Amino acid sequence: DEYAIGLDLGGTKILAGLVDHAGRIIAQKQLPTLAEEGEKAVVERVLSATYDVLSTGSIDPEKVRGVGIASAGVINSAIGEVVFASNLGWRNVPIGALIAQRFGLPVRLFNDANAAAIAEWLWGAGAGTQNMIYVTVSTGVGAGVISDGRLVCGRDGSAGEFGHISIDWNGPPCRCGNRGCLENYASGTAIENAARHKLATTYESVTAKAICEAALAGEAFSKQLIKQAGFYLGVGAANLLYLFNPEVIVFGGGVMNASTILMPEIEKSMRERCIPGLAQEVRVVLSQIGVEAGVMGAAGGVFALDQPGEKVP
Ligand code: BGC
Ligand code: NA
Ligand code: ZN
Repeated sequence: DEYAIGLDLGGTKILAGLVDHAGRIIAQKQLPTLAEEGEKAVVERVLSATYDVLSTGSIDPEKVRGVGIASAGVINSAIGEVVFASNLGWRNVPIGALIAQRFGLPVRLFNDANAAAIAEWLWGAGAGTQNMIYVTVSTGVGAGVISDGRLVCGRDGSAGEFGHISIDWNGPPCRCGNRGCLENYASGTAIENAARHKLATTYESVTAKAICEAALAGEAFSKQLIKQAGFYLGVGAANLLYLFNPEVIVFGGGVMNASTILMPEIEKSMRERCIPGLAQEVRVVLSQIGVEAGVMGAAGGVFALDQPGEKVP
């Protein structure tokens, strides 16, 4: 069992990788998600990308331990089902069973942020720690929690939905159905919406990426938007300190491109809002693994399948 396949199902792209025990990607294939074409078409592309990395890696199929899948949204890992993923428009899609049937390999499904947390823990910014939290700030906000040397999975593998903790019970409606969720204040989408609102525009060109770049170039309004997001992320992170007493919090995701502005704000509000004893020693750092984190982490999680003694449950 020298390899595992990692699959990252994103709102814009499907990334498949053949990954070895050291987290190295031996072969990879990327396809557009095109969620608007419907569930069946997307599933076909997932199967095709999987098939591709299995064959281009030109390795003995016997040496592949299984397939790990990283998907945004609420999942049920026991039955390999994506329960609710708004970026894919999926409800109750049995992606695990579909892959297992086609390839005859064991499958393990993870939330995207949980998978990225595994990757950062095994091979990145959290290596060597026992208590680490990975937070992604991208289209949405998510987290994966490593506590006492294990990934916190919860009943269904959906523990760590950090973006949907309520920070304002009267706040704007969230796509999850609740109100005032953290990701409505601190995600790429939230930053875009705030900018469009202020500029009274619906311009497509007002993207989180552009706002991050403008902020880094010193443009005052963009900088203010990013700082505000940092403030809210710090408020949320203080709650994580209370719950898990981590050694390190790792921040990743596209919006962290503006880390030089975000990080000081996150640290400031996090430390201000937490009891000193819990806040003093915790390190707040940037992710070390890039866009492959989902693929690497999902594969990393597979290596521990049915081996309860190992690091990842
Ligand atoms: C979803 C999470 C996901 C996060 C980052 C949130 O909107 O609810 O499941 O981890 O976005 O993609
Ligand atoms: Na999560
Ligand atoms: Zn929500």
